[in-house]
Amino acid sequence: MTAQDTAPPLLTLDRLDEVEGWFFAADRYLFEWLLSHQRDHGPRGDLLELGVYKGKSAIVLGHHVAEGERFTVCDLFDADGAPDASTATEMRVYYPTLTRQVFEANYLRFHRRLPNVVQGSSSEITGHVPARSCRFVHIDASHLYHHVRADIAAARELLTEDGVVSLDDFRSPHTPGVAAATWEAVLTTGLKPVVLTESKLYGTWGSADSLRDSLAAHLTTHPTLWGVTEEVAGHTLLRVHSR
Ligand SMILES: C[S@@+](CC[C@H](N)C(=O)[O-])C[C@H]1O[C@@H](n2cnc3c(N)ncnc32)[C@H](O)[C@@H]1O
Repeated sequence: MTAQDTAPPLLTLDRLDEVEGWFFAADRYLFEWLLSHQRDHGPRGDLLELGVYKGKSAIVLGHHVAEGERFTVCDLFDADGAPDASTATEMRVYYPTLTRQVFEANYLRFHRRLPNVVQGSSSEITGHVPARSCRFVHIDASHLYHHVRADIAAARELLTEDGVVSLDDFRSPHTPGVAAATWEAVLTTGLKPVVLTESKLYGTWGSADSLRDSLAAHLTTHPTLWGVTEEVAGHTLLRVHSR
């Protein structure tokens, strides 16, 4: 008998709501669609999440790691490792019950193996992940302008040419720093917004048009989500809403 034979059965994603976190239905759908679309049409590459909390979105990402691809997650996990006083305050206010052990235990209820876990500030991520290696980067760590700006610059360095970045909280009232850093990247670095939800902006520094059009076509048959295109600052983007 092997250890695998005695391991408890893994949970399926229909139990994801048992994991505390901030990852909503429209974004779960978009993660699954974008990652499957990349699997079928390219680009190939690694996955990266900055800011895992207790693992809700990481567990979904973990289901899309293909043979030969690597999944890295980065989180401070506690206020002691915070790079500055504002981050330490943010950690204490928003994430008082977070520990690395909670994240790992949640993840292992859904997967046999942990991803590559970097415990530390997202500002160090380019020292752990090779440049131009990632097809998908989820930025969901600090809400402070200077950190998000740096996270976006790191994503640009780490993504492959047509890789996709997802930026959480780009429009929440309590996260003006994320909004400023996100639209600054659109207006000054060539980030093309592809699709927006209530919570996240998805963009690429590569080709946006065919990705957006494929998603728009796919949404026409979705039972609860619908998309509408809009021109913003020279970009055609898709807004996704729930019926
Ligand atoms: C909004 S939560 C992430 C939510 C998660 N993706 C989910 O699906 O529920 C933000 C996370 O970012 C982490 N964090 C905040 N500032 C950070 C920083 N500068 N570097 C790395 N992680 C950070 C926090 O510890 C927290 O776990």
